[in-house]
Amino acid sequence: MDINGKISQISTLADLDALKSELFGKKGYFAEEFAKMKTIPPAEKKDFAANLNKQKGEASALLDSKRMVLESEALKAEIEAENIDVSLFSTTGEGSLHPVNLAMEAIVDYFYGMNFELKTGPLVEDDFHNFEALNLPKHHPAREMQDTFYFKDETLLRTHTSPVQIRTMVKEKPPLKIIAPGAVFRRDYDLTHTPMFHQVEGLAVDGENKISFANLKFILEDFLTYFFGDVDVRFRPSFFPFTEPSSEVDISCVFCKGKGCRVCSHTGWLEVLGCGIVDPNVFKAVGYENVSGYAFGLGVERFAMLKYRISDLRSLFEGDLDLLEQFR
Ligand code: PHE
Repeated sequence: MDINGKISQISTLADLDALKSELFGKKGYFAEEFAKMKTIPPAEKKDFAANLNKQKGEASALLDSKRMVLESEALKAEIEAENIDVSLFSTTGEGSLHPVNLAMEAIVDYFYGMNFELKTGPLVEDDFHNFEALNLPKHHPAREMQDTFYFKDETLLRTHTSPVQIRTMVKEKPPLKIIAPGAVFRRDYDLTHTPMFHQVEGLAVDGENKISFANLKFILEDFLTYFFGDVDVRFRPSFFPFTEPSSEVDISCVFCKGKGCRVCSHTGWLEVLGCGIVDPNVFKAVGYENVSGYAFGLGVERFAMLKYRISDLRSLFEGDLDLLEQFR
Protein backbone atom coordinates (compact mmCIF):
# COMPACT_ATOMS: atom_id res chain seq x y z
CA MET A 1 0.00 0.00 0.00
CA ASP A 2 1.37 3.40 -0.99
CA ILE A 3 0.61 5.16 2.28
CA ASN A 4 2.71 8.25 1.54
CA GLY A 5 1.00 8.71 -1.82
CA LYS A 6 -2.44 8.44 -0.23
CA ILE A 7 -1.65 10.98 2.46
CA SER A 8 -0.22 13.48 -0.02
CA GLN A 9 -3.42 13.36 -2.07
CA ILE A 10 -5.67 14.33 0.87
CA SER A 11 -7.08 17.86 0.77
CA THR A 12 -9.81 17.91 3.45
CA LEU A 13 -9.98 17.05 7.13
CA ALA A 14 -12.88 14.65 6.42
CA ASP A 15 -10.74 12.67 3.96
CA LEU A 16 -7.96 12.65 6.52
CA ASP A 17 -10.23 11.13 9.16
CA ALA A 18 -11.43 8.53 6.65
CA LEU A 19 -7.87 7.51 5.76
CA LYS A 20 -6.95 7.38 9.43
CA SER A 21 -9.59 4.77 10.16
CA GLU A 22 -8.74 2.95 6.92
CA LEU A 23 -5.19 2.57 8.25
CA PHE A 24 -5.55 2.37 12.01
CA GLY A 25 -9.13 1.16 12.51
CA LYS A 26 -10.07 -2.19 14.09
CA LYS A 27 -10.36 -3.75 10.62
CA GLY A 28 -7.88 -1.35 9.06
CA TYR A 29 -4.70 -1.93 7.10
CA PHE A 30 -2.33 -2.27 10.06
CA ALA A 31 -4.69 -4.54 11.99
CA GLU A 32 -4.86 -6.85 8.99
CA GLU A 33 -1.11 -6.76 8.46
CA PHE A 34 -0.40 -7.60 12.07
CA ALA A 35 -2.91 -10.48 11.81
CA LYS A 36 -0.64 -12.02 9.18
CA MET A 37 2.01 -12.57 11.88
CA LYS A 38 0.38 -15.93 12.63
CA THR A 39 1.25 -17.24 9.17
CA ILE A 40 4.80 -15.95 9.04
CA PRO A 41 7.72 -18.33 9.73
CA PRO A 42 9.18 -17.74 13.20
CA ALA A 43 12.59 -16.68 11.87
CA GLU A 44 11.05 -13.80 9.86
CA LYS A 45 8.57 -12.70 12.55
CA LYS A 46 10.91 -10.21 14.19
CA ASP A 47 11.84 -8.34 11.00
CA PHE A 48 8.27 -8.39 9.79
CA ALA A 49 6.99 -6.84 13.02
CA ALA A 50 9.78 -4.28 13.15
CA ASN A 51 9.12 -3.20 9.60
CA LEU A 52 5.41 -2.92 10.19
CA ASN A 53 5.91 -0.87 13.37
CA LYS A 54 8.23 1.48 11.50
CA GLN A 55 5.63 1.90 8.75
CA LYS A 56 2.94 2.54 11.32
CA GLY A 57 5.03 5.16 13.12
CA GLU A 58 5.80 6.99 9.90
CA ALA A 59 2.19 6.91 8.73
CA SER A 60 1.00 8.28 12.06
CA ALA A 61 3.55 11.13 12.00
CA LEU A 62 2.66 11.98 8.40
CA LEU A 63 -1.03 12.07 9.25
CA ASP A 64 -0.38 14.37 12.22
CA SER A 65 1.61 16.87 10.20
CA LYS A 66 -0.96 16.75 7.39
CA ARG A 67 -3.66 17.48 9.99
CA MET A 68 -1.76 20.54 11.20
CA VAL A 69 -1.45 21.87 7.66
CA LEU A 70 -5.15 21.28 6.88
CA GLU A 71 -6.30 22.82 10.16
CA SER A 72 -4.28 25.97 9.70
CA GLU A 73 -5.55 26.28 6.12
CA ALA A 74 -9.13 25.90 7.37
CA LEU A 75 -8.58 28.57 10.03
CA LYS A 76 -7.08 30.93 7.48
CA ALA A 77 -10.05 30.42 5.14
CA GLU A 78 -12.46 31.06 8.02
CA ILE A 79 -10.70 34.29 9.01
CA GLU A 80 -10.69 35.48 5.42
CA ALA A 81 -14.40 34.73 5.06
CA GLU A 82 -15.19 36.74 8.20
CA ASN A 83 -12.93 39.62 7.31
CA ILE A 84 -14.73 42.97 7.22
CA ASP A 85 -13.39 46.12 5.70
CA VAL A 86 -14.08 48.73 8.36
CA SER A 87 -13.09 51.53 6.00
CA LEU A 88 -15.79 50.58 3.50
CA PHE A 89 -18.78 52.90 3.30
CA SER A 90 -22.04 51.26 4.27
CA THR A 91 -24.06 49.97 1.37
CA THR A 92 -27.08 49.21 3.53
CA GLY A 93 -28.01 52.80 4.25
CA GLU A 94 -27.00 55.95 6.05
CA GLY A 95 -26.32 56.28 9.75
CA SER A 96 -28.64 58.05 12.11
CA LEU A 97 -28.67 60.15 15.22
CA HIS A 98 -28.88 58.24 18.47
CA PRO A 99 -32.37 58.33 20.03
CA VAL A 100 -30.99 60.32 22.96
CA ASN A 101 -29.64 62.95 20.56
CA LEU A 102 -32.89 62.93 18.62
CA ALA A 103 -34.87 63.57 21.78
CA MET A 104 -32.41 66.23 22.94
CA GLU A 105 -32.64 68.04 19.59
CA ALA A 106 -36.43 67.96 19.66
CA ILE A 107 -36.46 69.37 23.20
CA VAL A 108 -33.95 72.11 22.47
CA ASP A 109 -35.78 72.94 19.22
CA TYR A 110 -38.98 73.70 21.08
CA PHE A 111 -37.33 76.11 23.51
CA TYR A 112 -35.25 77.65 20.76
CA GLY A 113 -38.53 78.48 19.08
CA MET A 114 -39.66 80.10 22.34
CA ASN A 115 -36.66 82.44 22.30
CA PHE A 116 -34.53 80.55 24.82
CA GLU A 117 -30.79 80.87 24.28
CA LEU A 118 -28.66 77.71 24.08
CA LYS A 119 -25.98 77.40 26.79
CA THR A 120 -23.48 74.73 27.76
CA GLY A 121 -21.18 74.28 30.72
CA PRO A 122 -18.21 72.11 31.74
CA LEU A 123 -18.74 68.48 32.72
CA VAL A 124 -16.06 68.80 35.39
CA GLU A 125 -17.58 71.28 37.80
CA ASP A 126 -16.64 72.79 41.11
CA ASP A 127 -18.51 72.55 44.35
CA PHE A 128 -19.67 76.18 44.16
CA HIS A 129 -21.50 75.89 40.83
CA ASN A 130 -22.82 72.35 41.28
CA PHE A 131 -24.01 72.68 44.89
CA GLU A 132 -23.12 75.72 46.98
CA ALA A 133 -24.64 78.45 44.79
CA LEU A 134 -27.71 76.29 44.23
CA ASN A 135 -28.56 76.55 47.92
CA LEU A 136 -27.03 73.15 48.62
CA PRO A 137 -24.48 74.02 51.34
CA LYS A 138 -21.93 71.45 52.49
CA HIS A 139 -23.48 68.70 54.59
CA HIS A 140 -26.97 69.48 53.24
CA PRO A 141 -28.77 66.11 53.22
CA ALA A 142 -30.14 66.72 49.69
CA ARG A 143 -26.57 66.33 48.40
CA GLU A 144 -26.81 62.66 49.16
CA MET A 145 -29.32 62.10 46.32
CA GLN A 146 -26.72 63.38 43.90
CA ASP A 147 -23.61 61.51 44.94
CA THR A 148 -21.02 61.68 42.19
CA PHE A 149 -17.41 61.18 41.16
CA TYR A 150 -14.97 63.53 42.87
CA PHE A 151 -11.55 64.80 41.89
CA LYS A 152 -9.23 66.70 44.18
CA ASP A 153 -9.83 70.27 45.34
CA GLU A 154 -13.62 70.19 45.36
CA THR A 155 -13.96 69.43 41.67
CA LEU A 156 -16.40 66.78 40.59
CA LEU A 157 -18.36 65.42 37.62
CA ARG A 158 -21.48 67.57 37.55
CA THR A 159 -24.58 65.82 38.89
CA HIS A 160 -27.07 67.95 36.98
CA THR A 161 -27.19 70.72 34.38
CA SER A 162 -28.26 73.28 37.03
CA PRO A 163 -24.70 74.68 37.40
CA VAL A 164 -25.20 76.17 33.92
CA GLN A 165 -27.88 78.38 35.54
CA ILE A 166 -25.23 79.71 37.92
CA ARG A 167 -22.54 80.12 35.24
CA THR A 168 -24.93 82.12 33.08
CA MET A 169 -26.25 84.38 35.83
CA VAL A 170 -22.77 85.12 37.16
CA LYS A 171 -21.76 86.35 33.69
CA GLU A 172 -24.93 87.96 32.31
CA LYS A 173 -27.51 90.49 33.41
CA PRO A 174 -31.24 89.71 33.50
CA PRO A 175 -33.60 89.34 31.73
CA LEU A 176 -32.55 85.98 30.31
CA LYS A 177 -34.05 82.75 29.05
CA ILE A 178 -31.70 79.81 28.58
CA ILE A 179 -31.83 76.14 27.70
CA ALA A 180 -28.81 73.98 28.64
CA PRO A 181 -28.50 70.38 27.41
CA GLY A 182 -25.68 68.00 28.28
CA ALA A 183 -24.26 64.96 30.04
CA VAL A 184 -24.44 64.58 33.81
CA PHE A 185 -23.04 61.96 36.19
CA ARG A 186 -24.15 60.20 39.32
CA ARG A 187 -23.01 57.25 41.37
CA ASP A 188 -25.95 55.08 40.28
CA TYR A 189 -26.26 51.88 38.32
CA ASP A 190 -29.36 49.73 38.02
CA LEU A 191 -32.24 48.99 35.65
CA THR A 192 -33.30 52.61 35.38
CA HIS A 193 -30.07 54.47 36.21
CA THR A 194 -26.71 54.73 34.46
CA PRO A 195 -23.68 56.59 35.85
CA MET A 196 -23.83 58.98 32.87
CA PHE A 197 -27.04 60.36 31.46
CA HIS A 198 -28.30 63.56 29.87
CA GLN A 199 -30.38 66.47 31.10
CA VAL A 200 -31.85 69.60 29.67
CA GLU A 201 -32.03 72.58 32.01
CA GLY A 202 -34.23 75.63 31.56
CA LEU A 203 -34.06 78.99 33.30
CA ALA A 204 -35.98 82.23 32.82
CA VAL A 205 -35.21 85.37 34.84
CA ASP A 206 -36.81 88.78 34.62
CA GLY A 207 -37.60 91.76 36.89
CA GLU A 208 -39.32 91.55 40.27
CA ASN A 209 -42.78 89.89 40.09
CA LYS A 210 -42.49 89.52 36.35
CA ILE A 211 -42.25 85.73 36.33
CA SER A 212 -44.78 83.59 38.14
CA PHE A 213 -45.66 79.93 38.51
CA ALA A 214 -48.36 80.50 35.88
CA ASN A 215 -45.66 81.23 33.28
CA LEU A 216 -43.84 78.04 34.25
CA LYS A 217 -47.03 76.00 34.13
CA PHE A 218 -47.98 77.35 30.73
CA ILE A 219 -44.67 76.67 29.03
CA LEU A 220 -44.22 73.19 30.45
CA GLU A 221 -47.75 72.11 29.54
CA ASP A 222 -47.26 73.45 26.04
CA PHE A 223 -43.84 71.79 25.73
CA LEU A 224 -44.98 68.41 27.04
CA THR A 225 -47.91 68.18 24.64
CA TYR A 226 -45.60 69.30 21.82
CA PHE A 227 -43.17 66.52 22.68
CA PHE A 228 -45.46 63.67 23.71
CA GLY A 229 -48.63 64.53 21.80
CA ASP A 230 -52.00 64.24 23.45
CA VAL A 231 -51.15 63.77 27.16
CA ASP A 232 -52.53 65.18 30.41
CA VAL A 233 -50.07 67.12 32.56
CA ARG A 234 -50.14 67.49 36.33
CA PHE A 235 -47.98 69.36 38.82
CA ARG A 236 -47.17 67.76 42.18
CA PRO A 237 -45.59 69.64 45.09
CA SER A 238 -41.99 68.57 45.66
CA PHE A 239 -38.67 69.82 46.99
CA PHE A 240 -35.50 71.11 45.36
CA PRO A 241 -33.08 73.30 47.34
CA PHE A 242 -32.78 75.76 44.43
CA THR A 243 -36.50 76.35 43.81
CA GLU A 244 -39.33 77.43 46.10
CA PRO A 245 -42.04 76.40 45.59
CA SER A 246 -40.89 73.26 43.80
CA SER A 247 -42.86 70.83 41.77
CA GLU A 248 -42.55 67.55 39.98
CA VAL A 249 -44.43 67.21 36.73
CA ASP A 250 -46.21 64.07 35.56
CA ILE A 251 -47.77 63.20 32.22
CA SER A 252 -50.54 60.67 31.75
CA CYS A 253 -48.93 57.32 30.89
CA VAL A 254 -48.13 57.15 27.18
CA PHE A 255 -48.39 53.35 27.23
CA CYS A 256 -51.84 52.84 28.77
CA LYS A 257 -53.26 56.35 28.23
CA GLY A 258 -53.70 56.75 31.97
CA LYS A 259 -55.57 53.52 32.63
CA GLY A 260 -52.71 52.04 34.67
CA CYS A 261 -50.06 49.54 33.57
CA ARG A 262 -46.72 48.07 34.61
CA VAL A 263 -44.70 51.01 33.25
CA CYS A 264 -46.59 53.60 35.31
CA SER A 265 -46.84 51.27 38.34
CA HIS A 266 -50.62 51.24 37.82
CA THR A 267 -50.91 54.91 38.70
CA GLY A 268 -51.69 56.13 35.18
CA TRP A 269 -48.98 58.84 35.58
CA LEU A 270 -45.31 59.11 34.65
CA GLU A 271 -42.95 61.56 36.36
CA VAL A 272 -40.99 63.45 33.71
CA LEU A 273 -39.36 66.55 35.20
CA GLY A 274 -38.60 68.81 38.14
CA CYS A 275 -39.19 72.54 38.28
CA GLY A 276 -40.03 75.52 40.42
CA ILE A 277 -39.67 79.21 41.13
CA VAL A 278 -36.02 80.14 41.61
CA ASP A 279 -35.15 80.31 45.33
CA PRO A 280 -34.06 83.80 46.52
CA ASN A 281 -30.85 82.24 47.93
CA VAL A 282 -29.79 81.30 44.40
CA PHE A 283 -30.22 84.90 43.22
CA LYS A 284 -28.30 86.08 46.28
CA ALA A 285 -25.40 83.72 45.43
CA VAL A 286 -25.03 85.21 41.94
CA GLY A 287 -25.60 88.82 43.03
CA TYR A 288 -29.01 89.34 41.40
CA GLU A 289 -31.45 91.75 43.08
CA ASN A 290 -35.13 92.50 42.48
CA VAL A 291 -35.68 89.65 40.05
CA SER A 292 -37.99 86.66 39.68
CA GLY A 293 -37.59 83.47 37.69
CA TYR A 294 -38.44 79.87 37.09
CA ALA A 295 -36.25 76.84 36.39
CA PHE A 296 -36.77 73.27 35.30
CA GLY A 297 -34.68 70.19 34.57
CA LEU A 298 -35.45 66.96 32.79
CA GLY A 299 -33.77 63.64 31.99
CA VAL A 300 -33.35 63.13 28.24
CA GLU A 301 -33.04 59.31 28.34
CA ARG A 302 -36.42 59.13 30.03
CA PHE A 303 -37.97 61.38 27.39
CA ALA A 304 -36.45 59.25 24.61
CA MET A 305 -37.64 56.01 26.19
CA LEU A 306 -41.18 57.24 26.60
CA LYS A 307 -41.41 58.86 23.17
CA TYR A 308 -39.85 55.96 21.26
CA ARG A 309 -41.24 53.21 23.54
CA ILE A 310 -37.86 51.80 24.56
CA SER A 311 -38.27 49.56 27.59
CA ASP A 312 -34.68 49.06 28.83
CA LEU A 313 -32.60 52.14 29.62
CA ARG A 314 -29.34 50.23 29.24
CA SER A 315 -30.09 49.33 25.62
CA LEU A 316 -29.50 53.02 24.83
CA PHE A 317 -25.83 52.60 25.71
CA GLU A 318 -25.05 49.20 24.23
CA GLY A 319 -24.68 50.12 20.55
CA ASP A 320 -27.58 47.76 19.82
CA LEU A 321 -27.99 47.92 16.02
CA ASP A 322 -31.48 46.40 16.09
CA LEU A 323 -32.52 49.40 18.14
CA LEU A 324 -30.42 52.08 16.43
CA GLU A 325 -31.32 51.12 12.85
CA GLN A 326 -34.95 51.91 13.58
CA PHE A 327 -34.03 55.59 13.72
CA ARG A 328 -32.67 55.87 10.18
N1 PHE B 1 -31.44 69.70 38.90
C1 PHE B 1 -32.58 68.90 39.28
C2 PHE B 1 -32.19 67.45 39.24
O1 PHE B 1 -31.22 67.10 38.65
C3 PHE B 1 -33.76 69.16 38.38
C4 PHE B 1 -34.31 70.55 38.50
C5 PHE B 1 -33.81 71.59 37.74
C6 PHE B 1 -35.33 70.84 39.39
C7 PHE B 1 -34.31 72.88 37.86
C8 PHE B 1 -35.84 72.10 39.51
C9 PHE B 1 -35.32 73.12 38.75
O2 PHE B 1 -32.84 66.61 39.80
